[in-house]
Amino acid sequence: MNISVNNKKNTFHLYNDEISYIISVLPTRHLGQLYYGRRIREREDYSWLLELRDRPMSSWTVKEGQKYSLEHIRQEYGVFGSTDYRSPAAEVVSSNGSRISDFCFADYRILAGKPELPGLPATYTEDDSEAMTLIVTLRDDLNGLELELYYTIFDQCGAIARSARFVNNGTEDLHLTTAMSLSLDLPDSDYDWIQFSGAWARERYPKVRRLEQGIQSVGSMRGNSSHNHNPFFILKRPTADEFQGEAIGFSLVYSGNFLAQAEVDTYDTTRVLMGIHPSCFDWKLAPGESFQTPEAVISYTDQGLNGLSRNFHRLYQKRLARGYWRDRERPILINNWEATYFDFNEEEILNIAQKAKECGVELFVLDDGWFGARNTERAGLGDWYVNQDKLPAGISGLAEKIENMGMKFGLWFEPEMVNEDSDLFRAHPDWIIRTPGRETSYGRHQLVLDFSRKEVVDHIYEMMAKILSEAKISYVKWDMNRSITECFSAGLPADRQGEAYHRYILGVYDLYERLTSQFPEVLFESCASGGGRFDPGLLYYAPQGWTSDDTDAVERLKIQYGTSYCYPISSMGSHVSVSPNHQLNRNTPLHTRANVAYFGTFGYELDLNKLTDEEQEAVKEQIRFMKEHRRLIQFGTFYRLQSPFEGNIASWMVVSEDKKEAIVGWYRVLNGVNMPYTRTKLMGLSPDTEYRVEGMDTTHFGDELMNYGLITSDHASGSASPDEEIGQDFDSRLYLLKAVN
Ligand code: GLA
Repeated sequence: MNISVNNKKNTFHLYNDEISYIISVLPTRHLGQLYYGRRIREREDYSWLLELRDRPMSSWTVKEGQKYSLEHIRQEYGVFGSTDYRSPAAEVVSSNGSRISDFCFADYRILAGKPELPGLPATYTEDDSEAMTLIVTLRDDLNGLELELYYTIFDQCGAIARSARFVNNGTEDLHLTTAMSLSLDLPDSDYDWIQFSGAWARERYPKVRRLEQGIQSVGSMRGNSSHNHNPFFILKRPTADEFQGEAIGFSLVYSGNFLAQAEVDTYDTTRVLMGIHPSCFDWKLAPGESFQTPEAVISYTDQGLNGLSRNFHRLYQKRLARGYWRDRERPILINNWEATYFDFNEEEILNIAQKAKECGVELFVLDDGWFGARNTERAGLGDWYVNQDKLPAGISGLAEKIENMGMKFGLWFEPEMVNEDSDLFRAHPDWIIRTPGRETSYGRHQLVLDFSRKEVVDHIYEMMAKILSEAKISYVKWDMNRSITECFSAGLPADRQGEAYHRYILGVYDLYERLTSQFPEVLFESCASGGGRFDPGLLYYAPQGWTSDDTDAVERLKIQYGTSYCYPISSMGSHVSVSPNHQLNRNTPLHTRANVAYFGTFGYELDLNKLTDEEQEAVKEQIRFMKEHRRLIQFGTFYRLQSPFEGNIASWMVVSEDKKEAIVGWYRVLNGVNMPYTRTKLMGLSPDTEYRVEGMDTTHFGDELMNYGLITSDHASGSASPDEEIGQDFDSRLYLLKAVN
């Protein structure tokens, strides 16, 4: 990895074994984007990479310089208002009302490692040798606004982390109304755009379309990154597939309003923008103040979509997630939500916990309903002290009993919310987000606390820290169950109201930071009605997230498959729940529910007492299995093999780092009779290694399994005999591979 600088040409080449990223100061002194892709050679002069053409009906910024029309030049951080008519990376309003900016090259510096982004989640290094950072400073001489563009290249993987920082070194108040984390101009538009969209209980389905002239975008204006669209998308060459071909992934390390956009102009060049959604954003920069954007991470691969995912998995698992639990096998938990909802008492909880302990579960999680007057969705949020009617021994008493059983204890919170029917709201009705004089909308009968205000965050922190210090709590599920409406903060003056959404998220990050640093060994799991805020921002604080409220095994195939494009297996909360399933009323076999949930953090969300003896024995076996294999599953290399979006069969696998072990998950949605032969081509094995597949008589070499494939046809394909299983709907199998010797 290196950043080479040609001072004569003002060119910067960031490269490692896999990629090159080249930028150069243009003759107009703007910063040009020359190349991002597979590593290319080091050279004196790259200026030929920038095609400059005199286009009819264009305007140019340099007198007699017809080729210098900014709309036709690939730039690093283009602005609107001069000769570039595309969507801008930044928009700044000066005190006289002008919206024109002109950022020209001023300076640069190079740092070993990667600086932190104060108050914001970001990828990091543990050692300065892991990455290098280039900071290019641009300046608008008229108003003294400085723009620092940050580029970090990592030693391994094709990723570049980018962000921008604005510093008002002038003498007048400025307003930033657009401040993207990333702008990337690509020389063509020969791409498929893949976004990850959905809704509550069906999050992150990949949606593919051809990139076309005009603007395509996804985003969120809900205050949370949302179930609807994830802050991640991919541009892949139309010929690329899972295992070969070029793709670039774009990921925003942020949990609030975002915009992810690609604009293709009429000359088929593409401008990608990613950052805080400019709608409703207006950040006042008084002289001397600065604004740091969130970080965006881009990753290039020529190894197809699986290659891209492996890049993100490695980086996000090792250098975005942090802390005690980052590299640790995740505890197998049981959560009482679907078992009891709000209706429980201590005896019932202990009963569920006792049976779970007998089956081998390691962590009991008490979900919603333990605090205040929380017996329905209509009351109690904000009152973070125990409901003595339900739990007379308090949280500390209950936690102690669970600990004495030999299990850890975890607790649910929804820190950002309040019900009108709560002591907190009665004491501080002015602490919610609401616009003066207007009706306030509800979501799940609750209101949003104004986390942009420090006193609000401080108060919630005190309440949570008290419980976490008094009781033996090893895990926190941090939920967030509604989006923001009527956004306005009583803590901000009129000319700073456009800061409220972002300051809200900064408040969330601040509370996360305080709690995770005060309780470093507590495992945090993020949640937002399932996967409504499943994003890299929260992965920085909470190394796992509740992937979806949908616990049905068949639905989870799609949700976990879609989620895996960006997020590692160790980040996906996945539980076995009851059958028929509470979201769909579908009956699925117990083994399939486990076979899907294994590919995540694994746990149960039901009352095991209600299972038959035989099922309880099966659960014990599942837990034994997961304990034996979770290191491989959660921290191995993951490959998607067959997509549940494309057919009746889905499969995926994990391979150990030394390639001596692998586990394949194979799932068939509907059974069929007299079915065709099926094989699944495996990936990531060592071609010359001989593997034994548990339960099969013969051994196979890696090259055979990767090229001919693993035979998955079964007796339902035509040879059922009375003593052979013929499968069923929603069936699944795991194949365990071990290197012989
Ligand atoms: C949300 C979560 C669920 C559960 C409930 C409790 O919907 O996603 O897992 O915690 O809240 O109210």
